[in-house]
Amino acid sequence: MGIDTDLMAPENWEAAFAALDWQVELGVTDWLADAPVDRYALPERLAQAPAKAAAPALTPVASADPVAVARAAAEAAQSLDALREAITAYDHCELKRGAKSTVFADGNARARVLILGEAPGRDEDIEGRPFVGRAGQLLDRMFAAIGLTRSSPDPAGSFYITNVMPWRPPGNRDPEPAEIAMMRPFVERHIALVDPDLIVLMGNTPCKALLNQAGILRLRGTWTTALGKPVLPMTHPAYLLRQPIAKREAWADLLSLKARLG
Ligand code: URA
Repeated sequence: MGIDTDLMAPENWEAAFAALDWQVELGVTDWLADAPVDRYALPERLAQAPAKAAAPALTPVASADPVAVARAAAEAAQSLDALREAITAYDHCELKRGAKSTVFADGNARARVLILGEAPGRDEDIEGRPFVGRAGQLLDRMFAAIGLTRSSPDPAGSFYITNVMPWRPPGNRDPEPAEIAMMRPFVERHIALVDPDLIVLMGNTPCKALLNQAGILRLRGTWTTALGKPVLPMTHPAYLLRQPIAKREAWADLLSLKARLG
């Protein structure tokens, strides 16, 4: 984008700030150079370059099934470190190409409660840890209110937290069904390795991944079972930031979780 006005002039900085804010909303997280590049103005050297020889025809090969590749990689992982490596090496999800970090997990891996979220946002992509933005800070306060924190070494006083998707979708769009399907084997293995007593499904994406159902406002607050474990769907803290009135129901869900923990 070329802006040839003095951006620091008091009459222009608000417009510059609005333009920047708009780009952040679109999902822009980095700049590549200080000056804009006009990619339509080809340097003469390139415009005059002789055409390249045609590439030899490739023999088509059957492309690998992303879900089968994920399943094999996930099943081979015998520890959380190995699973982190397997996810980082997995190359079949387009989201990985647009993300800065592979966001794996946070919290106490011996905790009784595992929280499964949707996907990293901008702050998580920058920091490489799940739920560190505004929604994550609200989540920390919510769980602290029932005596659970990420940092406690006590399995009964802590939680472990991860997401269905380890890569940030562009512009924070919802993950697509095919993207959820290819990450599901990793989620299953992650849960098997942590082996929590209870799972909280935070928002719609984890309900789609583990229950094959959407409609979090209908599902929330009702205990069900997935992967042989009790699971509690809850409304996502990002939703609670937009709809504070829903915090009352979220509090009821937290109390239900606390009661279940005994
Ligand atoms: N929302 C999520 O579901 N996960 C994160 O890590 C951050 C925001």
